[in-house]
Amino acid sequence: MSSVPWLPGLLPFRAQPESHALRIDLGERSYPIHIGRLDWAECARQLSKPGQLALIVSNETVAPLYADRLRAALEPVYGRVESLILPDGEQHKNWRSLQSLQTALAQAGADRRTTLFALGGGVVGDLCGFAAAIWMRGVRFVQVPTTLLSQVDSSVGGKTGINLDEGKNLVGAFHQPVAVWADLAALASLPAREFSAGLAEVIKYGPIADLAFLDWLERHMEGLRARDADLLAVAVRRSCEIKAAVVAADEHEVDLRAILNFGHTFGHALENSLGYGHLLHGEAVGLGMLMATELSVQRLGLDPAWVPRLRRLLERAGLPVQAPRLAAPSFLALMRGDKKSEAGAIRYVLLPPGAGRAEMVAAPDAAALAAVHAHSA
Ligand SMILES: NC(=O)c1ccc[n+]([C@@H]2O[C@H](COP(=O)([O-])OP(=O)(O)OC[C@H]3O[C@@H](n4cnc5c(N)ncnc54)[C@H](O)[C@@H]3O)[C@@H](O)[C@H]2O)c1
Repeated sequence: MSSVPWLPGLLPFRAQPESHALRIDLGERSYPIHIGRLDWAECARQLSKPGQLALIVSNETVAPLYADRLRAALEPVYGRVESLILPDGEQHKNWRSLQSLQTALAQAGADRRTTLFALGGGVVGDLCGFAAAIWMRGVRFVQVPTTLLSQVDSSVGGKTGINLDEGKNLVGAFHQPVAVWADLAALASLPAREFSAGLAEVIKYGPIADLAFLDWLERHMEGLRARDADLLAVAVRRSCEIKAAVVAADEHEVDLRAILNFGHTFGHALENSLGYGHLLHGEAVGLGMLMATELSVQRLGLDPAWVPRLRRLLERAGLPVQAPRLAAPSFLALMRGDKKSEAGAIRYVLLPPGAGRAEMVAAPDAAALAAVHAHSA
């Protein structure tokens, strides 16, 4: 089978849930991504070189649901299994949680062979991954993502970090996990709004990398929202395949990996201007994708029919398609990421005519604001 020319190594889309693990190809840092209804005990047995201590990192919402099951799977493999349960929420992806994690590692007698297990969504995964990156200059960690967003995006690729008051994800490291266990059964307990937010990141992969997958999503969105197991397996697997191909080609985001930020320049500014708790990350990204598509029509001559096409799919995914009205000067400052810097046009991930691929393009502020206003109340 030939690969999709635009992404090296990515095979054409096949709408069949396959049970074997995907591998992300990063030389000696390659690792498996297990997707499906998983047997965690079997996944644990497949981990090579387990040390004496496993530390489960989770939060107050996820731990009561899944920590006992994870502990039971790890106990036959590790000499000792400890856990640290953090408060739930993006506002806890910070120094304080990182410090309690490092203290817990010290108090548990962790060494360089200790393995951390991130059990939760992207917040737990980013935080635990960063803690693993810096404990004794780097130890192994496993991602056990329990939200749709973390299964299709944040658990794969090795970006870890915490937020500062000054902005999201400002402190962090590239540190790849040794395995990802994306257990679709864990999605059963996810609230509907969080599930829809994850669908925004699934939809993202269509316009930037795979039009056949986008067509498939348009045929199956209601089934996906009903969490049909076979459909979910296809969607999570294809999302991970695309993410893995992009990361394998550009692990440290020198150029290509930036396309995964489609909708994120607008989305981050929306999240930041409205404050925590107003829009979920995936909801903001969905709105940002609409604005970026609008800007693609203006700047690159993308067919205008793409805007209603994407809006309709986001609506069917249960996502908001109209942002609250925003003050233009502060919104531009947020997109620039620096209130003081006024010079230079911001670069956006945009879709060229035909879509199915993406490129970084500078656009004047007036054009970006027009795209924002087209999708604001
Ligand atoms: N590292 C990356 O490449 C990357 C990529 C995208 C996003 N992110 C980060 O991911 C974070 C967002 O992740 P998220 O959307 O998973 O949010 P999240 O981790 O806050 O999880 C959302 C909510 O769902 C709850 N939850 C998780 N799993 C559950 C389950 N199975 N059942 C019931 N409730 C459950 C959580 O406790 C939380 O309240 C952001 O911090 C973002 O910056 C990182």
